[in-house]
Amino acid sequence: MSDDSPVISLKQVRKSFDGRVVLDDVTFDVQKGQTIVIMGGSGCGKSTTLRMIIGSFPPDSGSIQLWGEEVTGAGEAKLNELRKKFGILFQSGALFNSMTIAQNVALPLTEHTDLDPSTVEIMVKIKLELVGLREHADKYPAQISGGMKKRAGLARALALDPQILFYDEPSAGLDPVTSAEIDQLIIDLSKKLHVTSVVVTHEMDSAFTIADRMVMLDKGRVLAVEDRAWFEKLRDTEGELPTDQALIRQFLRGDPEGPITQRKQTTGYAEDLLGEAEQAPRAPVPSVVSSRGA
Ligand SMILES: Nc1ncnc2c1ncn2[C@@H]1O[C@H](COP(=O)(O)OP(=O)(O)OP(=O)(O)O)[C@@H](O)[C@H]1O
Ligand SMILES: [Mg+2]
Repeated sequence: MSDDSPVISLKQVRKSFDGRVVLDDVTFDVQKGQTIVIMGGSGCGKSTTLRMIIGSFPPDSGSIQLWGEEVTGAGEAKLNELRKKFGILFQSGALFNSMTIAQNVALPLTEHTDLDPSTVEIMVKIKLELVGLREHADKYPAQISGGMKKRAGLARALALDPQILFYDEPSAGLDPVTSAEIDQLIIDLSKKLHVTSVVVTHEMDSAFTIADRMVMLDKGRVLAVEDRAWFEKLRDTEGELPTDQALIRQFLRGDPEGPITQRKQTTGYAEDLLGEAEQAPRAPVPSVVSSRGA
């Protein structure tokens, strides 16, 4: 793999659940050391994209590569080898409640390495120091706040010195100041450890603070993959725009009016409930009135 080849590469990725297309023709690359933000409305396919990159389940078609190696169709052994090279911060932090913070952070080290306990202890201290939790090492998850749980989850994601960090909604449910602290931590870690970061979020302040590059998803389609500056410029552009760009601008600004809200108003109720059916003709919606024989 040459130095400028992407660390993560998705090509024409497609995924359906229960006959409904959730991701269609998703293509983007992430370069080494970059922080890329995946954004888009609820249900547009952000978490699904993330979960396929980490090999939780395969796409229906298309290619996903990490360090030039195909994730799609890789066996468990290969996936486990790849998984050791990345860390994941789940939405909830996903800590084990019966273990202290230090024990939670030690877990990947005791599971995946044969380091002796004193080395593990030192490594845990380093990771907790990185996220500002060293004094709280012996507390249990129930004894710390939501923001601290996120930090602890992050320390655990860092345990094996990953080359890629994946974050799913890192600031969801946090107050604005704690959320800004987590953003700062993401930036610091990216700078200090030179990790490549993939961050899923729909919080625009956060996205513009941390991103080098951004991917805008809409209903499973990639509308744009551009540098942060491109999105900043679009956000601040006034006047008429082509529909896709107007849609992105509405999302970035959180405007109450625009293509997103217009679409919601014109989407049929049944379509809204069932989503876009894939190929199969939509069954006629039974009429409540006639079924009662009125
Ligand atoms: N395992 C699954 N089985 C069936 N449908 C699924 C599954 N996982 C996700 N979906 C559907 O795929 C679509 C995309 O879901 P996804 O979780 O990727 O959205 P998201 O962009 O992360 O949304 P949010 O911002 O609400 O977290 C949704 O319509 C969801 O209901
Ligand atoms: Mg999600």
